[in-house]
Amino acid sequence: MLTPLGFSLLRHLADGQFHSGEDLAAKVGLTRARVSQVLKDAEAAGLALERIKGRGYRLTEAPDFLDAKKVQARLGVLAAERGVPFALGVEVVDQVDSTSSELMRRVQRRDVHGVALAAEWQTAGRGRRGRTWTAIAGGSLTFSLGWRFEQGAGFLAGLSLAIGVAVVRALEADGFRDIALKWPNDVIHRHMKVGGILIDLNGDALGPTTTVIGVGLNVRLPRAARADIHVPVTDLTTVAGKRAPPIDRNRLLAGLLAELASVLETYANEGFAPFAAEWQHRHAYQGKPVRLLLPDGATVTGKVAGVDASGALVLADGPRRARFLSGEITLRRA
Ligand code: BTN
Repeated sequence: MLTPLGFSLLRHLADGQFHSGEDLAAKVGLTRARVSQVLKDAEAAGLALERIKGRGYRLTEAPDFLDAKKVQARLGVLAAERGVPFALGVEVVDQVDSTSSELMRRVQRRDVHGVALAAEWQTAGRGRRGRTWTAIAGGSLTFSLGWRFEQGAGFLAGLSLAIGVAVVRALEADGFRDIALKWPNDVIHRHMKVGGILIDLNGDALGPTTTVIGVGLNVRLPRAARADIHVPVTDLTTVAGKRAPPIDRNRLLAGLLAELASVLETYANEGFAPFAAEWQHRHAYQGKPVRLLLPDGATVTGKVAGVDASGALVLADGPRRARFLSGEITLRRA
């Protein structure tokens, strides 16, 4: 897999022209020997590189870099198809600690409404409940979108579930099958995690609130990386199947942003209620017996009755019903 340094080098080579080892080394501040090693790793990761003595290196096939212009162009196509413009700013960086942390820092200085930030590589990706989020340079899609709501945090309780609906809709529209949700907002395929959603909030209790919606999807996750992750995981390449064409992350990102913008606009007016039935339909555990692990270590069992209008999970134990709030609970198959 590619390292962030590999990305910087490959971006210099993305013009399809020859670049000498000296030239590349000077551009990224490495020795020539290191440049040669990084490019060998890039080749091992599947990139087609041509080397000619005296001329240098050239990429023979354009790699699938994230590219803000390509994402905007695809958003334009989607907007024309749907008859609605998407007023979204798209920014792509090679490396950042976390796209969500970066947008949250910016919230202090400027409006991030409609700003999408995607990164090839996150050095400190954050997952839910203080966990880290493992992503692979070039093998993941990691991005965050800023969105401003007039309402306060109470109104936004079901937002992360609605975002789950948007992500599954977008993946389905791009041809991925059997993608489902696991409460509160894991994106799964046959009980294995393929993506996650993290929402950060900034604002007053009664509003307005700026949210930063972080989405991480596994696109090509090597076996070694899977071992570091505490839950069963899969990637979209596996979901798509062996005969499927390579995944176009720019197209995928545009589809996700378009669907997110549409869901966020509806949510701002109507909250979670219009998404509750679809969410339940897409929940892999709907009607199933489950065990919830509570933050204090206690466990609760019951049958999933569904989610209520605020996105709380409702468990049925005989005639009794109990509600559990998003973010507090880990859900396992009973
Ligand atoms: C989870 O734990 O399931 C949520 C994972 C969310 C990861 C994404 S990747 C883009 C954004 N930046 C982060 O640091 N986290 C989110």
